[in-house]
Amino acid sequence: MAESISFSRTGDRAAIYVEIAPQIRALVQGEPDITANLANIAAVLKEAFGFFWVGFYLKKDGQLVLGPFQGPLACTRIDIGKGVCGTAFEKRETLVVPDVDEFPGHIVCSSASKSEIVVPFFNGNGEAAGVLDVDSDKVDDFSGIDADGLGEIALIVSEVLSGKNL
Ligand code: SME
Repeated sequence: MAESISFSRTGDRAAIYVEIAPQIRALVQGEPDITANLANIAAVLKEAFGFFWVGFYLKKDGQLVLGPFQGPLACTRIDIGKGVCGTAFEKRETLVVPDVDEFPGHIVCSSASKSEIVVPFFNGNGEAAGVLDVDSDKVDDFSGIDADGLGEIALIVSEVLSGKNL
């Protein structure tokens, strides 16, 4: 397993997503433990982009439960259909929220969080299994570039959940 990742320091997010996606694929290749894989993916995303908060919620017993993350402490449980995470999970689609104060029902884990993107991922049966959540302390910090780039990362998570990385 690689001990470090390499990526350009230009701040060009589109380029960085292209650089890190294959490295994340290599990182999870052959590793069956989902917690270990999600922990490393969160670490790579934090290191590459410096996101304020980045992490995972996983569906357990009918709720979304906090998984591996990097950043300040976060809400432990989110009901499906609630907040940005629960809504993206229920709709099975990526949500980009430019200003969290404008999102009805947004769940405040940190008052410093100003914008957010949430991308669902799926298990081998095609059922939503959880979400990748990224928060920024700046308003309007996420675009279609992040939706595409994080969508690719969420696809890798779906592959891990299906055992396609083994
Ligand atoms: N704001 C999210 C909750 C999760 S935290 O931001 C880490 C939401 O509304 O679902």
